[in-house]
Order: sequence, then structure tokens, then C-alpha cells
Amino acid sequence: MRRICVIGAGYVGLTTGICLADLGNNVTLLDTDTKRIAAIKQGELPIFEPGLGELLQQNLRAGRVYATTSYAEAVPDAEFVFIAVATPTAEEHDGADLRYVEAAATELARNLSAGRRTIVINKSTVPIGTGDWVANILAQHAPVGAQYAVVSNPEFLREGQAVLDFQQPDRVVLGSTATAAAQEVATLYLSSRAPIIITDLRTAEMIKYASNAFLATRISFINEIARICEQLGANVREVALGMGYDRRIGRAFLDAGVGFGGSCFPKDLRALAHMADEAGLHPQLLRAVLDINRDQRLLIMEKLCRLLGSLEGKRVGLLGLTFKPNTDDLRDAPALDIARALLEKGVHVAGYDPAGMERAQQLVPGLETVRTPYDVAKGADALVLVTEWNEFKQLDWNQIRKHLRRPLLIDGRNMYDAERIRSAGLVYEGIGVGCPTPPVALQSHAHVNI
Ligand code: NAD
Ligand code: UGA
Repeated sequence: MRRICVIGAGYVGLTTGICLADLGNNVTLLDTDTKRIAAIKQGELPIFEPGLGELLQQNLRAGRVYATTSYAEAVPDAEFVFIAVATPTAEEHDGADLRYVEAAATELARNLSAGRRTIVINKSTVPIGTGDWVANILAQHAPVGAQYAVVSNPEFLREGQAVLDFQQPDRVVLGSTATAAAQEVATLYLSSRAPIIITDLRTAEMIKYASNAFLATRISFINEIARICEQLGANVREVALGMGYDRRIGRAFLDAGVGFGGSCFPKDLRALAHMADEAGLHPQLLRAVLDINRDQRLLIMEKLCRLLGSLEGKRVGLLGLTFKPNTDDLRDAPALDIARALLEKGVHVAGYDPAGMERAQQLVPGLETVRTPYDVAKGADALVLVTEWNEFKQLDWNQIRKHLRRPLLIDGRNMYDAERIRSAGLVYEGIGVGCPTPPVALQSHAHVNI
């Protein structure tokens, strides 16, 4: 049993802390958000993450998880202190905003114990060189006699399957100038039996950015292919399948759609491009990946304009608001940009989401939220699938067809079988799955339906 403190009880901090407690360690979750800590103490998970709430309750009962807002309570006894605070895009440039990391490192330094050795582990995604910067902060603020080492341990979990990703990671990456400290951190992960890569601080930090950038590049690549498919009459779903059987390519992250969102891909790509700019380089590929992704959201508007004509006064229903299924995270969610763009054009927008509705309404004034996927369709001129939640997979399309004012479905995730949708009397339009629907097809159905 090791004594561990995790600073930042968000998606990463909660997953890391609770899963480490589940392995038998003694974990203190430390956050400045008093409401969040109060909820955790009550056994309530402040985020939506499948399976994590149950693990929190079990480990609270077992006395292995403790939550606090006090550095003085959490840090002095800890052998390992993880920093897992947010690193959003800065306001003044595209780079990462390190103010939360700086505050956490400073406060933790002040609370290190003299005469005790602590390993400080950077789990937040941070610009290359941040490990050295954190070591400097520790040197400035730690009490005389405190011993410490800094290790970079980037996180690769996906929201929605964070517990599984912690328990069965593809790899664990550790970077440090003190190899012995990295080896000690490695012992926390031995039960996962994953390959452990020990390298220097900067390389570890870069592995994280390069991995996210590569995954995002695959998505923008397939979205560009989808656009070409659409013009030339090919089907990108089958193209991805045909490509994916090549073991050098693989099938993962080749789903065309409204593009990537979330708290990481967009901001990490921007931050990496910013670092390259600052180094006097021209990160052309990274910029193209971001541009294609932005255009992918606009594509939904283009499709709606082409099929509905003027958008003013029309009603559009959005199925799904979070950036992906199985999370309540709305950071950089494509649905929010689409809703804002529609509202600007004078469209009435209604949305339904199993986990993100309340917050979405706060973020997009004017967005109506409704209680079921069927309510989204009521009186709408078009229905747009933005997030592929499981509960949208088996909808009663005859009922939806009856609710709609015009029978149009835009499948922003290519989730549905086009023929099944068409056989229920709807016009189906996906992303790069054959020639675009001619507007006339919709008009003729619409006249029957209205
Ligand atoms: P989050 O916003 O969900 O959580 C961050 C938490 O840190 C918040 O609860 C906040 O109150 C707390 N906090 C801020 N400043 C603090 C301070 N000084 N002391 C104590 N607590 C403080 O963030 P997240 O999504 O968990 O991301 C954390 C980091 O991990 C980011 O760098 C992110 O890029 C990276 N990451 C995230 C994911 C993901 O799926 N969300 C995956 C891999 C890596
Ligand atoms: C992603 C990475 O997969 C994690 O490894 C990483 O740790 C994390 O970012 C991070 O650094 O925060 P996450 O953002 O939770 O995880 O979700 P993903 O499943 O990667 O999806 C990201 C976005 O890409 C979503 O909007 C999703 O809809 C979109 N996507 C994904 C596609 O459009 N097509 C695909 O083929 C795959």
C-alpha cells in the first residue's frame, strides 16, 4: 500500500486516484472546488464516467479514498503526488494555459515535508519542457531539506471508457531525469502488465502530444476522403473498412463524421502547433488537420442549406450534444458549434442528450432542450445525429417520421443503415456515403408530409 495524493479531481484525477485506490493504495483526492470534494465525500461522482462511481463507493467504504481541499492535509505524508489539473488553451495564444499547474506545483511545494522524499508526477498534458519548469517551482518553494523528483506520466485514457483504459492501458509512459524515480512510479502500474516505456522528461511529454495529433490526423484524413467520396459517389464507410484490413493501417479512428471535439484533441493540436511556431517551424499538417475539422462542423450547415433552402424560421433537432457518447463532457463539442451557427441563422434548435443537456443549455442560450429523442423530432424540418449514443441506435423511425415536419435525417456519424431509414420514408444524408441527396428528393417527400 503506497500513500498517494492526486491534485485535480476531474476526469483524469478521479480515474487515476480511484483506480489506484482500487489496487490497494491509500489515495487522497485534492481539489480546490469545495462542491466537488463534498460530493466525492458523499460517494457521488461529480462527472459522468461509466463504472467509476461504483469504484468510488467501494473504495470509500474500504477507507482507501479520502477527499480534501487542503494541501496541508493531503501532501506532507504522500510518497507520490500526481498533478492532474486542467491545461486548457490560453486566452492570449494557442498554447496551453499553465496557471493551474503552476498553482498546484507551488502549493504542493510549500507543503512538502522536510526530511522526506516525494515523487511529483505530472499527469496533465503539458508543453514540452514543463517538467523542468515544475522542478524549478519546487526548488523555489519547497522547504529546506525536502527531497523530491519530477516524473512525467502522460495519460492516454478516453472518456467513457476511462476505467478500462486505466486497468488495461496499451502502454505506460514515464519520463524523468531521475530514472530511479521513474522506476518507482512504474511499480504503481505493474498489475496492468502493460509495456512501460521509461524515457526523458521532454520525450515523455512529446509522446502524449504526438499520439493525440496522430489520432486527430487520422480523423481529418478520413473526413477529407469522405468529402471526395461524396463528390465522386463512393462510400467512405466501406472505404474505411477496406483500408482497415491492411494491418499497416488498421481500422481505428477512421470514422468520418462531424469531426473531433472534446477537451483534448483540439486544444492539444493547437498547443503543439503553437510550440512548433514558437520554435520557428511551420506545422502545416497540424494546421490542415485543425482546418479540416473546423470545416466538418460547417458541412452540416451546408447540407441543411442545400436541402432546406433558406434556414430562417426553420426548426432543427439535434440528437446528442456531448462531444462523444458515454460522457457528460461538452468541451469543444461539435453540437454546440452547430447549434450556435443555426441559431445565428434564425433557426429554432431543439436538442436531446442523455448526459449533457443542462450544461448545454447554459452554454448555448436559445437552445431548447427536450426530454426524449422523439420530442426532438416534433415539428422539425430536419433531424441531425451529432453524437452516437447507444440509445439512438434503435429508434422507431415510423414514429419519428410522423413527428417531423419534413422527413430529413442528417446522420453526422454515419451510424444508421441508410436503406432502413429510407424504408421508413425519410430522406437520409450521411457524411461521404455516396452522392449527396438532390434537394428535389426532399421537396417531394416534404409536400406529402407537411
Ligand atoms: P478537469 O477540468 O476535468 O479537472 C481538473 C480539476 O482540477 C478540476 O476539478 C479543478 O477544480 C481542479 N483544479 C484546478 N486547479 C487546481 C489546483 N490548483 N489545485 C487543486 N485542484 C485544482 O480536467 P481533465 O479533463 O481531468 O484533464 C486534466 C489534464 O489531463 C489536462 O491536462 C488534460 O489535457 C489531460 N488529459 C485529459 C484526458 C480526458 O479524457 N479528459 C485524457 C488524457 C489527458
Ligand atoms: C482522446 C484520446 O483517444 C485519448 O487517448 C487521450 O487520452 C484523450 O483524448 C486526451 O488526451 O484527453 P477522448 O477525447 O476521450 O480521448 O475521445 P476519443 O474517443 O479519442 O474521441 C475524440 C473525438 O474524436 C470525439 O469527438 C469523437 O467523436 C471523434 N472521433 C473519434 C471521430 O470523429 N472519428 C473517429 O474515428 C474517432
